[in-house]
Order: sequence, then structure tokens, then C-alpha cells
Amino acid sequence: MTNKEIIELTRNFVADTYRRFPVAFVRGKGARLQDADGKGYLDFVAGLAVCNLGHCHPKVTEAIKKQAGTLIHTSNLYHIGPQARLAKLLCENSFADKVFFSNSGAEANEAAIKLVRKFFSLKGESRYKIITMEKSFHGRTMATMSATGQRKFQEGFEPLLEKFVYVPFNDIGAVKKAVKKDTAAVMVEPIQGEGGVNVPSPGYLKGLKALCAESGILLIFDEVQVGMGRTGTLFAYENYGVKPDVMTLAKGLGGGFPIGAMLAKDEIARAFRPGSHASTFGGNHLATSAGIAAVNATIRGGVLDNCKKVGGYLFERLSGLKKDFPFIKEIRGMGLIWGMELKIPGSPIVDKCLKKGLLINCTGETVLRFIPPLIIKEKDVDEMMRILKGVLKEVHPGPTASRTRT
Ligand SMILES: Cc1ncc(COP(=O)(O)O)c(C=O)c1O
Repeated sequence: MTNKEIIELTRNFVADTYRRFPVAFVRGKGARLQDADGKGYLDFVAGLAVCNLGHCHPKVTEAIKKQAGTLIHTSNLYHIGPQARLAKLLCENSFADKVFFSNSGAEANEAAIKLVRKFFSLKGESRYKIITMEKSFHGRTMATMSATGQRKFQEGFEPLLEKFVYVPFNDIGAVKKAVKKDTAAVMVEPIQGEGGVNVPSPGYLKGLKALCAESGILLIFDEVQVGMGRTGTLFAYENYGVKPDVMTLAKGLGGGFPIGAMLAKDEIARAFRPGSHASTFGGNHLATSAGIAAVNATIRGGVLDNCKKVGGYLFERLSGLKKDFPFIKEIRGMGLIWGMELKIPGSPIVDKCLKKGLLINCTGETVLRFIPPLIIKEKDVDEMMRILKGVLKEVHPGPTASRTRT
């Protein structure tokens, strides 16, 4: 099938929930994709921070192939070897003692929200309110959409789930003010992804931890987007010297295969008893086999070091554009998640890059987001920069170019 045929079929039969680019990819390897018409692309989107190891990482592909030919799914009515092994691997490499598996980031967050409510309920404390951040993104289910501090995702779906309050990101004072006797937790992305790649100010996450401890409430880190090596450490919290009480993962956890996870300290996780929470597919043989392969490939083989090294290079190169393009306001991020805030809309730039074979993404209308696979090389950054620079010149000729024209 061609791009055109796939697009037509989608238009006719798939619910219209996505604003899609007019292209359908049919194969991928590393940071490269090929569309149905045979055109090649350099991928700085990585399936929205999912394909952290690149497309079709051989270890993940091999694990999926092997498990698919052995046993795909039984049920959580029975014990599941790869699920238990992946849980052990995650606990050994994090602050956590126990893991609940889901199929997506929203479901992992849903589990976290339910866990903190159950935790306080079992203690006989009427604490159920969760403080989240403006510009946050936690998912599209009713609870996680209610937790999300962005009106645009909620409009038309009211009434929202009660007991979420939103405060500005990076404002400890606002969180302090919002904590009341019915507060159960603070939920925060260590770096806000969807909200525009907003990084925490020095001491912010530590301050949140101290405030939560003082107030007897829990700290939830949503690492759905920035976990799994994206910031150069396996989990983003490691960069800030702060351990959460509960953490959620998804996206990169299965190397492209759908899986989510909610991790917690034992004293909190114990609030979930048999029957408290469940997911039919959560943590099945196939998903957790992919997860084991993805976690192992992330912590071994230099992926994290590469992310830091190439991430630093990408930041330098993006920052270098500021002198030629005064409409670039700020570059912010860490590891291999970078946002370039513009004074102009970003989507025409994304469209033009696509035509030239480069995938980047725009969030919050004016922030170009760069979230390539963590295995990219400096030469991939150079190639991306060549295309981006050409597009920036086309979209908005700099002062030199406009002077020449007049
Ligand atoms: C921080 C964060 N949390 C939760 C989600 C929701 O994940 P999913 O789309 O897998 O439900 C996302 C998705 O972009 C995210 O970035």
C-alpha cells in the first residue's frame, strides 16, 4: 500500500482523534524510518519518547519473537515468570520495592492515584486530594485527564473527577499553600514533556520531597515520558537526588511494545491487596519479555552515557542557532529531551522538516521538542541541524536575509 492508500483507509475507518501528518511509516531501524512510498526519514520523535533504543532494537525484537512463539498471554490469575523478573529488575534499579503493571502511561498513573487513595483510606485518614501542576500531562482517562493541569484536554468531558488541584510548576510556595488536611499526594513530572519541556528549578523537587515528608503526604513522580534513560540516567529522579514514594513508567519501558508500570515503596504498595486493582493484559508474558530486554539494553551497552554525551552536543548545536534566529527564545531540557521555545508558531517548521525527511515535534504551539532515540550519534545531530537550519531560514529569514531582500 502507498501513503495515499493508507491515509484514505484511515480516513474512512479510524476514529478521527489524531491530527496526523500525511505519511505512513512501514519500517524502521535505529533512528531511521521509511514511509510506504519508500522515502527515508531521520527520527527525532522516537514514537513520542517510546523508541528510546531506536526502532526494532535487535534485543527487543529477538525477545518479542522468542516469547511470541512460546506463550503470549495467560492471565494474572496465574503467576507470570517474565512479569516477576521485570519487577525484580525495576526494583533492583530504583527506589521501589513493588511494581504493578499496566498497558499504558495513563493506566500507570490511574494505578498511582488509586494506590494513594487506598493507602490513606486503610490508615483511616480522609486524604484523597492530589496536587498536580499547571501545564502537566498525566493521560487521557477520566482520572488522569482530571489530574492533567491543562484545560484544553478537559473541555467537553466535564464533570471531571473531583479532588485535583493545580498549582504553577516550580512554585514550592504554591504547593505549600495548597496542602490541606485532606491532601494525599503531590504528583509531578520531573521534567514536563507535553507541557513544553519545562525543567525544574534547582531545589524544586527536593523542596517538594521535604514538604511531602513534613506534611505526611506522598510524592508521585510521573516518569512516563522522562524515565527509561531519557535524561541520561535510567530514571529522571536520579539527576535530582530525590526519591519519590511512587513512580510511573510507560513509553520506553517496552522498547516500543505497550506496557506501563507503577512502582512504589513496600509500605505504600501494601495498600493494594488481591482484588484492589487489576488489568487483564497488564504485565503479560509478551509485554514483560519486551520490557526485560528494553531495560537490560538501556542499562547496558553505553546507552545512558551516549544519551548524556550526544544530548550535550545537541544542546550546544541548538543553542548555536540563537544568534542567527532571534525568534528562538530558549533551549531547555536534559539528556535527550530538549525543547526550543520560539516566539513564532512551531507547526509550520515541523511540517517543512517532515517534507525534508526529518521528524520533530511541536508541543504547546511554540515549543519544538527533540526526543530522538537515545542511540543517535553526533553525525545524526549534524544531519538534523542541517535540515532544521534550512527550514528556519525558509520560515523566518533572519535580519541579514531580510536586509538583503529590501
Ligand atoms: C508524562 C506523561 N504521563 C502520562 C502520559 C500518558 O501516557 P499514555 O499515552 O501511554 O497513556 C504521557 C503521554 O504522553 C506523558 O507524557
